[in-house]
Amino acid sequence: MRDMYLSWPSQIRNALGSWGGYAAKRRHDSVLIVGMGGSGIVGDYVAALAMQLGGPSVAVIKSHLLPRNAGDDALVISVSYSGNTHETIIATKEAIERGLETVIVSSGGYLKALAEKRGLLHVPLPPGLAPRASLPSMLFSVLGLLDASGMSVVSKGVAEGALQFLEGSVADIAKKGDEIAEWIWRAGGLLTIATHSPLDPLAIRAKNEFNENSKVIAKVDVAPEWMHNDIVGYEGPLPVSPAVIELIDPGDEVGRKLVEFMEKIYLSVNGKVLRVELLGDNLLEKMLYGSLLLGIASCRLAELRGVDPLETRGIKEYKGFASAVFKV
Ligand code: PA5
Repeated sequence: MRDMYLSWPSQIRNALGSWGGYAAKRRHDSVLIVGMGGSGIVGDYVAALAMQLGGPSVAVIKSHLLPRNAGDDALVISVSYSGNTHETIIATKEAIERGLETVIVSSGGYLKALAEKRGLLHVPLPPGLAPRASLPSMLFSVLGLLDASGMSVVSKGVAEGALQFLEGSVADIAKKGDEIAEWIWRAGGLLTIATHSPLDPLAIRAKNEFNENSKVIAKVDVAPEWMHNDIVGYEGPLPVSPAVIELIDPGDEVGRKLVEFMEKIYLSVNGKVLRVELLGDNLLEKMLYGSLLLGIASCRLAELRGVDPLETRGIKEYKGFASAVFKV
């Protein structure tokens, strides 16, 4: 699993090789990105990038329910690493039925066959990876598709810069990721990922990675929203003290101050805190840096806990149940 994470630069290089090779039939006003879990997070990343860098309005659908008010002009991008996820298949079929232009991004599966049958654009992903470990392949495929479709969020030049940055940082990230895992292992308590907007998706991604790879429960705290609800929960007696990984963009003065405010509260309830500053020149690089760092940390934590990071028994069990609940 760790090797899959260490292959991220080559995943990006491959995706850059087909950048511009896949395009929607026309430019759209808005984009709906449909997907679940390790594939669904791609939508959150694209939405956060579009909010900061500009581009089309992006809505993220992590459900079988396609919003009724999805405009007729939306481009639907269905992302499923396996191509077999029930919720994604149902929402995708609904989009096709409604006549929305739909593009499928998958390594194969039912959705690839559906694309072939319905004459939809299919963007292939490299096979043989765990969905969550193929984040760069999925993310750069979607960013390349948008760029080639007149709805650019990230240009090819910016994407190439991110590749260069990651290539130069992998060794350092691997070392730091191991250190973070060892800190979590020693700290005990409720693993909490604290950050500030617009890094929300990175904190969610980190939580998901610790859930799936390390088999631990984790909480996500994002400022400033945290200050309007969660904060009060720390006033009562706590069942368990938090072990907090703070993710900070060092270039965001307000964000840093907000997380420092949170830190005082964590410390007041005997929490332990580890601050992680995200390196990189822009949001894409910072999110890649943080994603790889915490992906590696989640693998090392799995090792320390004696669990297999690849095995996701609960998800498999749910998918069996889902095939009886959802009719595809
Ligand atoms: O990371 C994982 O393995 C999961 O979160 C999957 O991504 C999720 O179950 C959806 O499957 P897929 O990515 O194949 O659509």
